[in-house]
Amino acid sequence: MNTIGILTSGGDAPGMNSAIRAIVRTAINNDLRVKGIRNGYDGLMHGDIYEMNVSSVADIIQKGGTILGTARSLEFKEPEGQKKGAQILKDYGIDGLIVIGGDGSFKGALALSKLGINTIAIPGTIDNDMGYTDFTIGFFTAVETIIDAIGKLRDTSSSHGRAAIIEVMGRNCGDLALYAGLAGGAESIIVPEHEFSMDDIVSKVQHGVKRGKLHHLITLAEGVGDPYEVAKEVNLKTGVETRVTVLGHVQRGGAPAAPDRLLGATMGAKAVELLLENQSGIAIGFSDGKLKSTPISEAVKLGRHLNESLYRLANNLSN
Ligand code: ADP
Ligand code: F6P
Repeated sequence: MNTIGILTSGGDAPGMNSAIRAIVRTAINNDLRVKGIRNGYDGLMHGDIYEMNVSSVADIIQKGGTILGTARSLEFKEPEGQKKGAQILKDYGIDGLIVIGGDGSFKGALALSKLGINTIAIPGTIDNDMGYTDFTIGFFTAVETIIDAIGKLRDTSSSHGRAAIIEVMGRNCGDLALYAGLAGGAESIIVPEHEFSMDDIVSKVQHGVKRGKLHHLITLAEGVGDPYEVAKEVNLKTGVETRVTVLGHVQRGGAPAAPDRLLGATMGAKAVELLLENQSGIAIGFSDGKLKSTPISEAVKLGRHLNESLYRLANNLSN
C-alpha cells in the first residue's frame, strides 16, 4: 500500500471533515501518500483528483460540510461507470480507497472492492439510517440543530397557544424525528416506522389543552405525511391554531457537535489501519461504545430498526 484515496459521497454531513483530517494525517504518519477525490463518484468519473498533505486538512475540524465536496453520480451507478472508476483509481496509482457516505455510497464502495480496489467505508449521513452501526457521522449535529429549532418554536408557540408541526429530514428513517423529539420534549413524534394516526395526534393535543399546556410540539419525519395537512386537521379537530416549519437543509449544516468529530477522528484513523492490514470491503461502525468492522456486503443489507424503547419513553414523558 503506497497511495490511498478519499472521497465523500451522497448528502454532506457535519463531521466528515474530522474524518478526512484523521485519514490524511494517519496515512502520512504511516508514510502513505494521500489523494483527495473531489465531489464523490462524480469527481472520480472526471479524474478530479489532487495530492493532499498535512496542511490540506489544517483548520477544518470545526467546519461543517466536506472540504472534498460531494455529489450524486448516475454514471457511477452503472457497472460500466464502476469499471471506469476502478481504472481511473489505478491510473492515479491509488491502491486503497476510503469512502465516506451513506447507504448508496456504500454500494458503490462494495462494487469497487469487487473490482480489486481495497476499499473501506465510513458512515457519514445525518439520517442515521444504517442498521449495522448505532450512529453515523453527522447525526448528532443535526439533532442539535433540530433541538435548537424546537426550543425557539416552543417560545413562540407558548406565547400564542399554538401547535407547531416541525418537519425534519431522515429519508426513510425516523431517528432524527425521534431523538430530536425526545430531547426537545415534543408531544407527538411521527415516524415512518409506525403507522401514522391522526387520531393519536389530535387526542394528544386535546389532552394538552385540557391540562392547560400552552404549546403543542409535533416532530414529523419527511415523507410520512403532508405537514400542512396535519396542521389543517389538528386545527379543524381541536380548534388550536397551528403553524408548520419545514426545517430542510439547515439540518445538514453547522459546526460538527462533539460526537460527530469524535466518530470522524476515530473512524478515519481506523480506516487507514485497515488498509495498512490489506483489508478490503469493510464498513466501520460504532456499537456498544466501540468501533467495529462489518463486511460492506452485510452492512448494506441490514435495515435500521427504530429504537422502540426510546419511542415509548418519548410518548410516556409527553403527557
Ligand atoms: P447516500 O450515500 O447518502 O445514501 P446516495 O444514495 O445518493 O447517497 O448515493 C450516493 C452515490 O452512490 C450515488 O450518486 C451513486 O453514484 C452511488 N450509488 C448509489 N447506489 C448505488 C448502487 N446500488 N451501486 C453503485 N453505486 C451506487
Ligand atoms: O441523506 C441525507 C438527506 O439530507 C436526507 O435526509 C434527505 O432526504 C436528502 O438527503 C436530501 O437530498 P438533497 O440534498 O439532494 O436535496
